[in-house]
Amino acid sequence: MNESAESHDGMAREIAPAKGKLGVLLPGMGAVSWTLIAGVLLVNAGHSQPIGSVTQMSRIRLGKRDNPQYPFIKDFVPLSSLNDLVFGGWDIYDDNCYQAALACGVIDKQKLEPIRKQLEDIKPWSAVFDPAFVKNLSGPNVKQAPNKMKLAEMLMQDMEDFKKQHGLERLVMCWCGSTEVYQEDMGHEAFQTIEGFEKALKDNLAIIPPSMIYAYAAIRMGIPFANGSPNQTIDHPAMVELALKYNVAIAGKDFKTGQTLMKTIVAPGLKARMLGLDGWFSSNILGNRDGEVLDDPDSFRSKEVSKGSVLNSIFQDDLYPELYGDYYHKIRIEYYPPRGDAKEGWDNIDIQGWLGQKMQLKINFLCRDSILAAPVVLDLVLFLDMASRAGMGGIQEWLSFYFKSPQCRPDLQPVNSLFDQDEKMRNTLRILMGEKVIDHSGLDYYEPKC
Ligand SMILES: NC(=O)c1ccc[n+]([C@@H]2O[C@H](COP(=O)([O-])OP(=O)(O)OC[C@H]3O[C@@H](n4cnc5c(N)ncnc54)[C@H](O)[C@@H]3O)[C@@H](O)[C@H]2O)c1
Repeated sequence: MNESAESHDGMAREIAPAKGKLGVLLPGMGAVSWTLIAGVLLVNAGHSQPIGSVTQMSRIRLGKRDNPQYPFIKDFVPLSSLNDLVFGGWDIYDDNCYQAALACGVIDKQKLEPIRKQLEDIKPWSAVFDPAFVKNLSGPNVKQAPNKMKLAEMLMQDMEDFKKQHGLERLVMCWCGSTEVYQEDMGHEAFQTIEGFEKALKDNLAIIPPSMIYAYAAIRMGIPFANGSPNQTIDHPAMVELALKYNVAIAGKDFKTGQTLMKTIVAPGLKARMLGLDGWFSSNILGNRDGEVLDDPDSFRSKEVSKGSVLNSIFQDDLYPELYGDYYHKIRIEYYPPRGDAKEGWDNIDIQGWLGQKMQLKINFLCRDSILAAPVVLDLVLFLDMASRAGMGGIQEWLSFYFKSPQCRPDLQPVNSLFDQDEKMRNTLRILMGEKVIDHSGLDYYEPKC
């Protein structure tokens, strides 16, 4: 990072205050959504801390190291308070939030007791669903309409009703639905322009997956959209054009939680020390519904593509062919029901050091998938709402920190190193608030300018 603070002059924003209630729209009310909702309710009721949430727990340094300030991020930028969040969403199953949270088995029944009534009051609205895109699931709570444009209009109506019912000021949508099958034909004319996409919705074209119908409905209503799955929902010119036309913030894709989080922490360290890489084998077992969906090879392909891309931009094999020109990267995900949401990931990393000597690194991460994902959704919701109040539309690359496969301008390389993403996000917040960026060079402490 060598941009001077001056190069950001004029980029500070007037950010409208976070007044009133914020509606959080969740297409897909499964393990991640319920863990988020239950967690926020428990935090609001004083039973827990929002651990893992950067917006709530992290402080940001302002000013130089000889006279620094460290406000909490939530006090530095105007974010909605957790008490102002109201949750709603869609699912193909019609279990209420309490039943579904118990079924997911992420949080103990006893822990849910204080918020049981609030959870029971949240029931998913009927979903826009197509079994061709999620082959291993079927459920009764599904909308019917003559074409996909009509389905989008029904979703818009759900959002209007929700807003009125709860007196909400603003809405944000985060896709927490299942992984859809990988779409090979993204060159299709339906994905190139807004007109092409809208025609495809009206013509009920089979290639338009449900997640795109939700994203279209949200953007048309001026609602920021984040994509937590590896779906290609907003990764095409038509959706980016739509977001720019309506000046709506979008971000994706695929929450960075377990194994990929570790990958983007370890890989930048190996690269920084110029250690070579021969191979990186990543294997996982998980037994939740997400795992069941990923058991279908076509849905797994979406995950594989999203997970597979992270190492390239970190290791820059084109610039360092001797070290990274020929490494073998393999990813396996196995559905193993006994584990439920308690995922286990193994990484075997074969590296090379001085004189080409071979070494190995093993990582065994016993994680809780939705426990890692819930604070990510919370932060994305709060930041996207803030971006919206700051008048920011289109791709929000500064939120790459939260994604396995960060969306950025097509001519740019995505940034995957967690540390670069962290710096990018913090400096963006500083810039928006008219503070100086921090470049960590530090020479000025020893060689002050006259
Ligand atoms: N848990 C994690 O750590 C993590 C990390 C990265 C990405 N993700 C992604 O987040 C998403 C949610 O994960 P999860 O663990 O909550 O999965 P889940 O299977 O528990 O929940 C997904 C829910 O989406 C519903 N659904 C599917 N299609 C729908 C549609 N068209 N409309 C409405 N609902 C629909 C399913 O019925 C299910 O209840 C998945 O795409 C997953 O790949 C999760």
